[in-house]
Amino acid sequence: MQYRKFGRLDFKVSALGFGAMRLPTVGGDDGRIDEELAIKMIRYAIDNGVNYVDTAYGYHRGNSEILVGKALKDGYREKTMLATKLPPWHVNVREDMDRLLNEQLKKLDTDHIDFYLLHALNKDTWNKLYNLGVLDWAEGVIRKGLIRYIGFSFHDDLETFKKIVDAYNWTFCQIQYNYMDIDHQAGMEGLKYASSKGLAVVIMEPLRGGRLANPPDRVRQVFDSFPIKRSPVAWALLWLWNQPEVSTVLSGMSNFEQVKENIEIADKSGINIFTPEELRLIERVRETYLGIKAIDCNECGYCMPCPNGVNIPVNFHLYNEGVRYNDFGGPRWHYRNGLKESERASSCIKCGICEPKCPQHLPIRELLEKVKETFEATV
Ligand SMILES: NC(=O)c1ccc[n+]([C@@H]2O[C@H](COP(=O)([O-])OP(=O)(O)OC[C@H]3O[C@@H](n4cnc5c(N)ncnc54)[C@H](OP(=O)(O)O)[C@@H]3O)[C@@H](O)[C@H]2O)c1
Repeated sequence: MQYRKFGRLDFKVSALGFGAMRLPTVGGDDGRIDEELAIKMIRYAIDNGVNYVDTAYGYHRGNSEILVGKALKDGYREKTMLATKLPPWHVNVREDMDRLLNEQLKKLDTDHIDFYLLHALNKDTWNKLYNLGVLDWAEGVIRKGLIRYIGFSFHDDLETFKKIVDAYNWTFCQIQYNYMDIDHQAGMEGLKYASSKGLAVVIMEPLRGGRLANPPDRVRQVFDSFPIKRSPVAWALLWLWNQPEVSTVLSGMSNFEQVKENIEIADKSGINIFTPEELRLIERVRETYLGIKAIDCNECGYCMPCPNGVNIPVNFHLYNEGVRYNDFGGPRWHYRNGLKESERASSCIKCGICEPKCPQHLPIRELLEKVKETFEATV
């Protein structure tokens, strides 16, 4: 295993961290973890040098923390830095923070958590927790020895990310980052920003939730055309480890082979080991992915505003994401949960005011119908 700097701390973190959000399950039920296999996988990773395990209150319908607690018995807890997260959506008063942390310590069967994160912060959840005095609370539980270090994980825009980084002397943060997300959420600029302020940066979704492991033919051909042969997973992970600002890369491994493979890849990782040609290959792969879209919308927004409130560019963006990664699950979730009813394709009244304004001359009404059928059909 390769080890890397963890921000300002005198602790070397393994290049690969274990993300306990996609553990093997039984019968396709996310809440029923295959305990025996999952414990074996986590212990195998630790036996092979992994020293950072990341879980959260809600993973696997609350059962990931219990499983991780079991996996870390028999001497494994002492070899591992344990990270879990405070779920802001369950916090309404300050006492909730104590209640949740106590519950988590019990579930994990440990007397302390090494790295405690405010989970999935965005503008709203950050403001809510801040106003409830979360930083003062965190300092209190650090003094009591219940947690060692405080950080946050993040899903919002770069501006919000910088604001949160600047709001406190955090030890670490966790961001969604992979070669497709360099300009998305915190992105590459956020990574560099947090690192320049002394934060350790933990990477989540390094394979975009697994999508980059199975690229479409057009992307595969780009990889195949390169003289150095590596799997798409190896390219994606090594690209992350190539960057000095990355502390550890969490992978949510769902079977034993993935654990073995990712450890082998991590063993070969290093900072600045990619040649300019290898970096260029990843750029070409990104461009090829971005070129895969069913709707030729470049999100210029000239079609807006829609008199009925439909957010046309976002509807097309979500549809193109589904086509690009051949997976409509995430986009469908965003369509149903991230868009107001009036913003969804189904709110189009087919007035057609948008169409003459589109520089691409897209048949917007017809395309919105396709988006609606895709995202609103029962699955
Ligand atoms: N704080 C937050 O807001 C937040 C959000 C997301 C994630 N996280 C944390 O970050 C961790 C990592 O994120 P992630 O799970 O999304 O990571 P990821 O690596 O982007 O996706 C994990 C998926 O990638 C596939 N995969 C991994 N290794 C592979 C290999 N060698 N070959 C083929 N496929 C492979 C598997 O897909 P299949 O199962 O389909 O085979 C696996 O389930 C999570 O587990 C969690 O601990 C935190």
